[in-house]
Amino acid sequence: MVKTKNLKNLLKEKKLIRIVGAHNGMTAKLVEKNNFEGVWASGLEISTSRAVPDANILTMTDFLAASAEMVDSVSIPVISDCDTGFGNSNNIMHMVRRFESAGVSAVCIEDKKFPKVNSFIPGRQELAPIAEFVGKIMAAKHAQQTNDFLIFARVEALIAGWGIDEALRRADTYMNAGADGIFIHSKAKDPSEIISFCNRWKKRGILIICPTIYPSLKEEGMKKIGVDIVIYANQGIRASIKAIDNTLSYINRHGIGDVDSKIATMSEVFELQGMYLMKRNEEKYLGSETGNAKAIIPAAGAKIDNSLKRILEDRPLAMLDINGKSIIQRNIETLNRVGIQTINVVVGYKKEMVNLEGANIIKNDEFDVKGLMHSILLGAGEPAEKNIIAYSDIIFDQELIRKLLKKEDDIILVVDGTYKKAHLRNKELELVLTESAPPDGVRTIDTCKSNRILKIGKELDEKKAHYEFIGVVCCSKRGLGILKEEYRKAKEESPKKARKAKCIESFSFVEFIQYLIDKGHRVTSQAVAEGWAEVHDFDDYKRVSSIFS
Ligand code: SPV
Ligand code: MG
Repeated sequence: MVKTKNLKNLLKEKKLIRIVGAHNGMTAKLVEKNNFEGVWASGLEISTSRAVPDANILTMTDFLAASAEMVDSVSIPVISDCDTGFGNSNNIMHMVRRFESAGVSAVCIEDKKFPKVNSFIPGRQELAPIAEFVGKIMAAKHAQQTNDFLIFARVEALIAGWGIDEALRRADTYMNAGADGIFIHSKAKDPSEIISFCNRWKKRGILIICPTIYPSLKEEGMKKIGVDIVIYANQGIRASIKAIDNTLSYINRHGIGDVDSKIATMSEVFELQGMYLMKRNEEKYLGSETGNAKAIIPAAGAKIDNSLKRILEDRPLAMLDINGKSIIQRNIETLNRVGIQTINVVVGYKKEMVNLEGANIIKNDEFDVKGLMHSILLGAGEPAEKNIIAYSDIIFDQELIRKLLKKEDDIILVVDGTYKKAHLRNKELELVLTESAPPDGVRTIDTCKSNRILKIGKELDEKKAHYEFIGVVCCSKRGLGILKEEYRKAKEESPKKARKAKCIESFSFVEFIQYLIDKGHRVTSQAVAEGWAEVHDFDDYKRVSSIFS
């Protein structure tokens, strides 16, 4: 019953509460996302969403189910439009109990005859006798279980053409019967009718209006005439009807073509349905294949080979399109398939050009003065049990990550020795010297034995080195903790104590790893001979494009 309290507290605190119409969990969530104070479970919207007239065609249970779904989807209060109360005072009592126990904060009943018709439909707008409606209000107040639940009485005298005097008479009588507030509705385009009612009403409770037809009355004006709650009742569903209609008509004429840029991304859809939250929970409770794992992809750097600049058209390297999908999107999907759902991508250079789905974007605005370690630590957040760090200019496959996640060491770098055989490349490799040399021969078997890294860096002799570092790392929680702590200490320590400490923030990743090794930390390697490809220049681009469909 926290939400019922919320509405009462809001009414005490706020000058004007803005409530927006919705008809299901998704639309209620959009109301909350846009910072409105509450949801109006609108009869018009609920009926429209089911493609039936707003004329008591749907039943109380239909409205209750829709309201309950909205309550479950948001943490702001929900006020339910209950039309005429779905029957006489007996039905109202049952209705109040059900809506209150569903977590609705307030119900609104209107003084029309059952079955009602939407207030904006010309013709039959019959008012219920005052005595009958008073009985309904009293029954509703009697049925409510908690003090915080509110019953609003909607006065339809202006809609039915009975004038302001009748509206005022009814408003006062309903307040005497115990209503907590009055919803005064009008179908006049000129707000003077509503303004006149509000000014003349000797306010004795909450005052609610719904300016659908008189939008010229602004919020400042509403406050001046004593309005407590304004309901923007149906703009949401009307916007969605137009958007869906326009999009479908476009698709009918052009196919789905570039429609993606005009509609919500899949990632927005997943966010709205709570998929990411579910995945985070799954990592915690389901004991997935990967356990509790996350990935960090530093993609802030500006270094791009000249041969790729034309294809990239001002985008960072990670956004390089390989047959319809960027490098980074391919890696995100690979990580997802292995079961890693928390992926932090750190962006800097041309960050506005980075668009991706299924990952969190973290900004590194100092990318031009600080090195890769700075980006990695920005993206590290709260360490998971396993933390994959992957350069943004390589593509890797699922098996490589799976293998890595099974290893137990604290800091494991993936290395490859095939550069010695395949002298395809003319590049500055980040070379690695390990404790034991790679086995000589073509066939190898992974014995799961750790092979400690002794030296790493571009300056190592290609012939003496055993492997190259491919740009993928796995740190245990402890391992990432070591990275964080040593980086922090190195920044603080004097240059005398820590080698090159004064420029630690400009270290490349492998320089930092060598710094850790020099300090006695154990860094091990996982050797692979396949499962990855780099994309540094145009030749790489051609090779990789021929591999991926
Ligand atoms: C609703 O949203 O269902 C309402 C408000 O009752 S109105 O449609 O403006 O009458
Ligand atoms: Mg309604």
